[in-house]
Amino acid sequence: KRPAGAPDKSLARKISKVGIVGAGLMATQFATLFVRRLKVPVIMTDIDQDRVDRGVAGVHAELDKLAAKGRLDADNHNRLKALVTGTTDRSQFADCDWAIEAVFEEVKVKQDVFTDLEKIVSEDAILATNTSSLSVDEIASVLQRPERFVGFHFFNPVAVMPLIEVVNATKTDEETLATAMAVAKNLKKSAVITRDRPGFVVNRVLAKILGEAMHAVDTGTPIDVVDTALEPLGLPMTPFELLELVGLKVGAHVLESHHAPFPERFFESKNLDQLADAGAKLIERDGKGQKKGYTKEFKK
Ligand code: CAA
Repeated sequence: KRPAGAPDKSLARKISKVGIVGAGLMATQFATLFVRRLKVPVIMTDIDQDRVDRGVAGVHAELDKLAAKGRLDADNHNRLKALVTGTTDRSQFADCDWAIEAVFEEVKVKQDVFTDLEKIVSEDAILATNTSSLSVDEIASVLQRPERFVGFHFFNPVAVMPLIEVVNATKTDEETLATAMAVAKNLKKSAVITRDRPGFVVNRVLAKILGEAMHAVDTGTPIDVVDTALEPLGLPMTPFELLELVGLKVGAHVLESHHAPFPERFFESKNLDQLADAGAKLIERDGKGQKKGYTKEFKK
């Protein structure tokens, strides 16, 4: 396998239509970025019309906010909104030259999406996954043309976080890598090329920090003590604030997917799992967003 150096930029393909599978929180955020920066049609799909409609409405709402802040003029605002559409019919992805998914974090679910997409898009279309902690190689193993498959991992909140991890899987070819790097640049993000390893670079470090913080609580240190103790470290958010931002379910999943291959190195947290399932909050806030307490639902 070629070393993960910078690919030849001249190999990058032009993107004229973006397809997004999964219209949830992350997809809505990066759909907004794609349409705003690439100014090409963006089509979103999900398992039912309701989710599709919510996704498209979410992108429109983000564009409205940008316009209200004076970051989009009226012409652009209306034009960009019109470029974002939704469908439950994946066959409408036929002319997408870049298709990316942000569906449920389970290998089989993602493999099914890409098996289907491969039948729909052209041979040259690039397929990307926003997975944060699954193996890109494993997802690619069902593909006819894994060379045009790449990891393209955004961070939450997409509008603000400057980085994209471009995951160079075993079979990703140089054209695909060059296109992914060019897309990241056109989105005005910095990008790093990472190997296909659990958590890539960022999440494996985050899994340590979040896992240690949860483990401290799970083994008896009160959550308010841990949260307060970590505030002066100067991280943009404490581990618990970050878990709330990404969602407790996603956070629990990140911990599990690191603990499974490396049980000596990473903690998982059954408490976090249970809180996620119960839809609980780690930190309770008042109407102004100030912290006013912590979850009482931990099982010791
Ligand atoms: N969506 C869009 N824009 C947002 C936003 C959101 N959810 N949250 C904040 N912003 C924007 C605000 O609108 C504001 O923009 P303007 O300056 O243009 O008005 C700007 O960000 C700063 O916002 P605030 O002043 O309210 O907030 P802040 O200075 O406290 O910063 C933060 C907020 C950028 C989120 C900061 O706390 C931070 O960097 N937190 C860490 C986030 C992080 O580590 N993310 C990675 C999560 S891991 C992940 O995503 C990977 C995974 O796979 C699980």
